[in-house]
Amino acid sequence: MTSTFVRRLEGKVALITGAASGIGESTARLFSKHGAKVLIADIKDDSGKKVCEDLGQSSASFVHCDVTKESDVEMAVNTAVAKYGKLDIMHNNAGIAGIANPNILENEISEFEKVISVNLKGAFLGAKHAARVMIPNRRGNIITTASICSTIGGVASHAYTSSKHGVVGLTRNIAVELGKYGIRVNCVSPHLVATPLARDFFKLDDEGCHGVYSNLKGAVLKPEDVSEAALFLASDESKYVSGHNLLVDGGFTIVNPKFCMFE
Ligand SMILES: NC(=O)c1ccc[n+]([C@@H]2O[C@H](COP(=O)([O-])OP(=O)(O)OC[C@H]3O[C@@H](n4cnc5c(N)ncnc54)[C@H](O)[C@@H]3O)[C@@H](O)[C@H]2O)c1
Repeated sequence: MTSTFVRRLEGKVALITGAASGIGESTARLFSKHGAKVLIADIKDDSGKKVCEDLGQSSASFVHCDVTKESDVEMAVNTAVAKYGKLDIMHNNAGIAGIANPNILENEISEFEKVISVNLKGAFLGAKHAARVMIPNRRGNIITTASICSTIGGVASHAYTSSKHGVVGLTRNIAVELGKYGIRVNCVSPHLVATPLARDFFKLDDEGCHGVYSNLKGAVLKPEDVSEAALFLASDESKYVSGHNLLVDGGFTIVNPKFCMFE
């Protein structure tokens, strides 16, 4: 029996920030495979353009966009509309981990602000300018990449954890406001994935990243798995899901392994 591949984003237009690398790149590839026109927005021009070349000029294009700059985000959204006629999916994925310094007394405010600026302010600007073009169409889909650090503490820096808790609050607030326009707003929250961000922050190689504790055995989290969760949120299969934080963590955040009766 042959199964037919269903293109779940046929006719949709998606803007993905931070899509020159890691999870965003993987999501750009998956969304494109599912029929979406994809606009890759990143500060890494060469890598972003390379991803576009792979996907083909008719399916993807690149726009230089620093998500901390409102004019860049505004321009990226306008480019999506000018090039493809509309914006259906805004994926605020760009993020940085900052410096791994466990001592608050040595945490510089400038470093804290840098992380908040990319991860939280960037998501706010993305949602704001996506809403500007989605509201008149009475539909749209905004997804932000949060993290397991959106629900627990102690895994990353104060700045990173604050920013990821922040985007979940932002998502809920915006979901409430934009629901009346038929716009859905959600987060996808991965556990550790071996990308440049995670390898640099935790000083781990791929094997080290894969070995970090998870409750679920026998599976390794790959960027593609996070992209599949984003695809679910971006597609009509999740048409009644809004204000949700979809954890892709193998059960990491549901148990304290040091105090567990099932070991
Ligand atoms: N890798 C993990 O373990 C992990 C876990 C949970 C959440 N996340 C989140 O996933 C998202 C993607 O991270 P990744 O792991 O793929 O890392 P990555 O470093 O591979 O990709 C991040 C991308 O964001 C871009 N970027 C950084 N600052 C930017 C800015 N100011 N404007 C535009 N683009 C910018 C980078 O150039 C890069 O292409 C981030 O939001 C991150 O916090 C990652």
